[in-house]
Amino acid sequence: MLGNFSYCNPTKLYFGKGSIKYLADELPKYGKNVVLIYGGGSIKKNGIYDETVKILRSCGKNVAEIAGVMPNPTLKKLHEGVQIARRAKADLLLAVGGGSVCDYAKAVAVSVHCEEDPWEKYYVRFEEPDCEILPVGCVLTMVGTGSEMNAGAVITNTDAKLKIGHVFKDERVMPRFSVLDPEYTFTLPRHQMTAGIFDIFSHICEQYFSGEDDNTSDYLAEALMRSLLHSSRIANANMTDYEARSNIMWTATWALNTLIACGKSTDWEVHMLGQAVGAHTDATHGMTLSAVSLAYYRHIMPYGLKKFVRFAENVWDVDPDGKTDEQTAEAGLAAMESWMRELGLAMNITQLGATADMIEAIADSTLIMQGGYRVLTRDEVVKILKESL
Ligand code: NZQ
Ligand code: ZN
Repeated sequence: MLGNFSYCNPTKLYFGKGSIKYLADELPKYGKNVVLIYGGGSIKKNGIYDETVKILRSCGKNVAEIAGVMPNPTLKKLHEGVQIARRAKADLLLAVGGGSVCDYAKAVAVSVHCEEDPWEKYYVRFEEPDCEILPVGCVLTMVGTGSEMNAGAVITNTDAKLKIGHVFKDERVMPRFSVLDPEYTFTLPRHQMTAGIFDIFSHICEQYFSGEDDNTSDYLAEALMRSLLHSSRIANANMTDYEARSNIMWTATWALNTLIACGKSTDWEVHMLGQAVGAHTDATHGMTLSAVSLAYYRHIMPYGLKKFVRFAENVWDVDPDGKTDEQTAEAGLAAMESWMRELGLAMNITQLGATADMIEAIADSTLIMQGGYRVLTRDEVVKILKESL
C-alpha cells in the first residue's frame, strides 16, 4: 500500500438473532431523554417498534419521537426533527430503520446544537461540526448503506434538487452502537432487499476501482464481493435464508465502514450520478446506482484496464486465456450485468422515471469526483446519462 491513512471506528455492534436485548446494556450509558426516530411505519407492522419501546420503558427513559422519516430524507424533515430533539432536550437519538433513518439521525445529531443553517454548513461548505454532537444509536432494519457503522449522512434538498452526502471526519458522528439482527430484515420487500445488495456491491466497487498500487484493501474488497455474490443468489431464491441474509448484513457493514478505503483514493462517481438521478426522481438509492453503473464502468474501463481485468478474473472467474485484456475486462462486466438482471435490478434510468429532457438538469446535479480512473467532463456525464436511459 502506498497511501497514508488513519483508522478509527468506535461503533460497537451487537450482531445476530435477538440482539435487541443488548439495548438494555447500552441505554443506561446515556441521559434520560431519548428521541426515537423511525420511518413510514414498517417497524410498527413487524413488531420492532413494540420491542424497542418496551426496552426503553424498562430502562426508565422519557421517549419523544420523530416519525415518518422518508426514504431519501429531506432538509425540511431535518429542520422538523431538530426542533423536536431540542424541545425534548435529547440525550440520545435512537434510529430504528434503514440507511435513511440512521443517516437522518446523524444529521439531527450535528444540527441540534448548531447555530448555523445545517444545509449551508454541512452540505454546501462541507464543514465539520464545532458544536456538541448528540450520540446516535441504531437498530438496523434494512441492509445496504453501511450507515450503521459509518459517519455518512445523505440529505436531499428538494428545492435545490440536490441530494448530497457528507461523510463526516469526526468519528463522534458515527453511531455509538448498532444492533444488527438479520431477522429484522426479513420483512423487507424483495426490491428493497435487492436494491440493498446492489448498494453494497457498488460501495465496494467505488473503493476498489481506484489506485494502481498493490493494496490489501483490494484483496479484502474482492473477498467481500465474492461473499456477496454467493449469498445474494441464495437470498434471491429464498428471502428467509438466515445464513445468506446474515452474510449480506455483515458484508454491508464492512463494505462501507472505512476499512476498505484505507490507502485508497476511492472513486464515488457512480454514487454522484445515482444521487443526481435520485434528486430528480426520488427513486430507491440502490436502483439509481444499478441504472447508471454499466454505462459508467464501460466508459471508464479503458482508463483503468488493469483493474478491470483483475475484477473479471478474481471476482467473476473469467478465464483470460485466448482473450485480449479488453475482452477479459468486458467479460467481467458482462458477468456483472447478467447477475444484475438475475436480481431484477433497475437496468436504466427510464425505469426510474427519468426522461431524455431531464438529462441536462440531472447532469447539473452531478458532482464530479477526482479519485477514480477518469475525472469526467460535463459532456461525459451527459453521455453516460444518455446511455443509461
Ligand atoms: O419507512 P419504512 O416504513 O420503515 O419503510 C422503509 C423504506 O420504505 C423500508 N424498510 C426498512 N426496513 C424494513 C422496511 N420495510 C419492511 N421491513 C423492514 N425491515 O425500506 C424502505 C427503504 O428504507 P431506506 O432506509 O430508505 O433504505 P436504505 O437503507 O437503502 O437507505 C437509503 C438512504 O441512505 C443513503 C441513501 O442516499 C438514501 O438516502 N445512503 C447512505 C450512506 C451512508 N450513510 O454511508 C451511503 C449510501 O451510499 C447511501 O447514499
Ligand atoms: Zn450507496
